[in-house]
Amino acid sequence: MMHSLFPQRYMLYLFTFVIFAFNAEAAPFFSSPNSNLNSIASPWIPSSQSSSRNAKTNSNPPFPHRKRQFATFGPHLSLGQTESEYIKLTTTFIPGRPPATATGSLFIWPGFFDQKNRSEGDLVQTVAEFHNSSTMKDTCGAGPGQWCIRPFVVSKSYISQTPERGRAIDGGDAIRLEYVKAPGEGGSWNQSIWNGSKGGERLFSYVKGSARCKWFEIATESQGGNKGSADTQFYYNTTLVLKDPDPKLGERFITTGDIKATKPVTTDGGRNWFIEKVEVPPMLPGTAWKPG
Ligand SMILES: *[C@@H]1O[C@H](CO)[C@@H](O)[C@H](O)[C@H]1NC(C)=O
Ligand SMILES: *[C@@H]1O[C@H](CO)[C@@H](O)[C@H](O)[C@H]1NC(C)=O
Ligand SMILES: *[C@@H]1O[C@H](CO)[C@@H](O)[C@H](O)[C@H]1NC(C)=O
Ligand SMILES: *[C@@H]1O[C@H](CO)[C@@H](O)[C@H](O)[C@H]1NC(C)=O
Ligand SMILES: *[C@@H]1O[C@H](CO)[C@@H](O)[C@H](O)[C@H]1NC(C)=O
Repeated sequence: MMHSLFPQRYMLYLFTFVIFAFNAEAAPFFSSPNSNLNSIASPWIPSSQSSSRNAKTNSNPPFPHRKRQFATFGPHLSLGQTESEYIKLTTTFIPGRPPATATGSLFIWPGFFDQKNRSEGDLVQTVAEFHNSSTMKDTCGAGPGQWCIRPFVVSKSYISQTPERGRAIDGGDAIRLEYVKAPGEGGSWNQSIWNGSKGGERLFSYVKGSARCKWFEIATESQGGNKGSADTQFYYNTTLVLKDPDPKLGERFITTGDIKATKPVTTDGGRNWFIEKVEVPPMLPGTAWKPG
């Protein structure tokens, strides 16, 4: 009867909780002050603020190192932990409009990491960020109704590396993302971002991080009192490539909240996976920015 009491989804929560509990310093398990937010499966976090309090060595000064902040998470999607490892992701991401008013910071992203190696590994994530208007201007020159987007690699759960400035995108922009790991042991991750709506201009190719990644996640993350997303996010034609086939990957697929997603499918026995459409509904409907 265990399996009916503990369906897969709850097992995952349990598993995640255990990981957090044992790894409390690197990845604290926060209980959310807001019942709309599930503080589960929280990977490493890009911080909204650069911080000189981060005392660990910074051997690579051009990339700001940021300290992680208290964060809460909205609905998420994941495929659990694979025994193989991811070597590639492609997707087309439409972030939707940011909130009309900025309380704290909102981050939405698809990411790769290793749930069992959070304290030593890398989180590879391209992030759409939303902050108050002065921070938006400083981060990427964004105007009202825009996001900043840029690639991040968060190493060892707290060393957050990212280009100093992001690029401004509109909520309706179709952003094409590609994360590729160079072949071989220790091959580097290369995250590329194109503004698909506008002639496909490439905004970034960012080579950073080399850890093996075994977990894929789509997340909505709030910091600094932010209460969640205001508009629907879409991810189209998501492809995930593993180094070795994992025919059971699709069985560990979970979504939380009201996320609607087509099932992951494979046509080659589990090396290449495809998710046609993911729709992440707003956490706070009716609060999105509107053109004046
Ligand atoms: C915007 O946010 C930054 C970083 O959180 C903060 O330091 C700054 O005071 C805020 N500015 C305004 C005008 O609220
Ligand atoms: C992306 O395209 C949109 C138009 O759809 C434009 O407003 C935005 O500035 C573009 N961003 C970049 C960084 O090119
Ligand atoms: C990163 O990926 C982009 C897009 O596929 C490619 O053009 C670029 O050469 C790659 N960079 C490296 C260092 O491999
Ligand atoms: C964790 O990641 C680090 C950095 O990539 C790597 O050196 C180490 O072997 C990994 N450990 C495990 C258990 O996978
Ligand atoms: C997804 O792929 C299909 C088939 O190739 C294509 O028709 C569609 O335009 C793609 N969607 C996006 C948003 O790129």
